[in-house]
Amino acid sequence: MDSESIGPEDWDELIRNLEATIPVYDKINRFATLGQVDKWRRIVQSKMPIEGKIIEIGCGPGSFAEDVIGRELICLDPSPLMLTSAEPRVNSKRKERGDSPAIFVEGKAEKLPFEDSEFDGACSLFSFRDWYDKRTGLSEVIRILKPGGKVVIVDPAKINKIHGFFGWFWMRFWVGAYARIVCGIADHPWKWLTKTYVHFGTTKEYVKMMEEVGFVNVKGKVVFPGMATIWEGTKP
Ligand SMILES: C[S@@+](CC[C@H](N)C(=O)[O-])C[C@H]1O[C@@H](n2cnc3c(N)ncnc32)[C@H](O)[C@@H]1O
Repeated sequence: MDSESIGPEDWDELIRNLEATIPVYDKINRFATLGQVDKWRRIVQSKMPIEGKIIEIGCGPGSFAEDVIGRELICLDPSPLMLTSAEPRVNSKRKERGDSPAIFVEGKAEKLPFEDSEFDGACSLFSFRDWYDKRTGLSEVIRILKPGGKVVIVDPAKINKIHGFFGWFWMRFWVGAYARIVCGIADHPWKWLTKTYVHFGTTKEYVKMMEEVGFVNVKGKVVFPGMATIWEGTKP
């Protein structure tokens, strides 16, 4: 595992661990981000086009998707278990608001099952660091966006190696202790999330990667050091 890719065995193990987080995902995520996560989700939504077709890549149990107002929404995840937990949650909220139902699609960022130039916007929240080939995934995102379409990504990037050490300490011991209590087991799945955190790169590294695959107006803003960077870019 490194900042660009995750090997197939590690990735399968990661997905199993992510699936094990479903019942406690939102609770631990709020604790790990000191309650900031909802604010970051609102920022991402505000950066997505108001009209048109939007895709969330790596929707997980629907924590972001349930609050996406309006838009034609497609939720993609490689895990059928994630999709079956997300669908009723997201679509009951959409029905209450009078929004059309979201469509749930099984798939991976690295091989998006869509035509070229289909989407007005694409976002990925706390999933990019789990993509097993980030460069290929970004190339796929640019392929499925319409010219002028926007991508927004959130994940905890590091500023540098020293900062990375503090982040590891935070995840491993502070969040790890809480996860152990909430999950009631020593071998809790958050251990794996610490592993992807450690191997994830810096904000600048992914700005460069987005530019290299062809995005323009690329920005990477650290909204909370060590916990959230928001990257955005546009397809020319
Ligand atoms: C931590 S959850 C994020 C859930 C949600 N997006 C949120 O805002 O909290 C990460 C999700 O990314 C998915 N994922 C992992 N690898 C992926 C890949 N290569 N392509 C697309 N999604 C992936 C996982 O299955 C998991 O559901």
